[in-house]
Amino acid sequence: MSVTAVTGSASGIGAAVAQQLREAGHTVIGIDRQQAEVVADLSSSEGRKKAAEQVIALSNGQLDGLVCCAGLGVTAPSSSLVVSVNYFGSTELIDLLHPALAKSTNPAITIIGSVAAGQQTAQPHPMIELMLSNDEQAARTAADELAQPHIAYSASKYALTMHCRRLAVTTGSTGVRLNIVAPGAIETPLHEASKNDPRFGEAVRNFIAPIGRNGQPSEIADAVSFLQSPQASFVHGSIIYVDGGMDAMMRNGNF
Ligand code: NAI
Repeated sequence: MSVTAVTGSASGIGAAVAQQLREAGHTVIGIDRQQAEVVADLSSSEGRKKAAEQVIALSNGQLDGLVCCAGLGVTAPSSSLVVSVNYFGSTELIDLLHPALAKSTNPAITIIGSVAAGQQTAQPHPMIELMLSNDEQAARTAADELAQPHIAYSASKYALTMHCRRLAVTTGSTGVRLNIVAPGAIETPLHEASKNDPRFGEAVRNFIAPIGRNGQPSEIADAVSFLQSPQASFVHGSIIYVDGGMDAMMRNGNF
């Protein structure tokens, strides 16, 4: 059975992914700020390097899977933190762990994006280009200057999705598959905090998917389990929306 590192494993979607993989017999190395095999802060390069070193040690240098779930929503303490955790907390960790993944026979990475990324397709905010050019400090400054956490959030997820799709093309020959799951509204502590926020709560509560309900973390874990499995052996660079029809409602001609 495989060894998979899961970021954000202490809560919500990451916890559901970790549980489902463990129940299927896989070994999971959880990475989180607390209650995890690897306790690390993915908001800094130092924390990401510490996390990668520990994962490599725990997996004896050969990793079969990486699932990047750690993220902050619109109630995060700052927009710069959203940029650092949501974008760089995934992209730098992928870079650091890619050599260990490339040693496996059927390696796969799944990133948790968001249906919110689609909000940036019409007019991408300039901070996206700063993230894509790997300039963390400039992207953080741009995000804090804008002081609109919902834009920092959608921008971080758009940049992350674009980065991963580019990476899927350039690193495809290494055999490491890389895909993105884009959730809609999923009932987790992050979503609960957004619903209760005085700035965004009403919009979040009114954002109802065509299917008529919010999703559960286990429904995202189902998609992740598929993408990480040999059944998805030819799925690479794809975005799977698990959103109750939200993206179809918002952007039905844009695919
Ligand atoms: P959550 O708040 O339940 O879990 C997030 C986890 O990430 C927590 O365990 C937290 O400690 C960890 N984390 C945050 N900052 C960290 C840091 N600096 N270093 C290490 N770990 C850190 O949130 P949820 O909802 O499970 O979110 C998981 C992912 O799904 C996030 O990337 C989020 O943006 C994404 N997502 C969630 C949606 C939702 O409606 N819940 C919708 C679309 C995307």
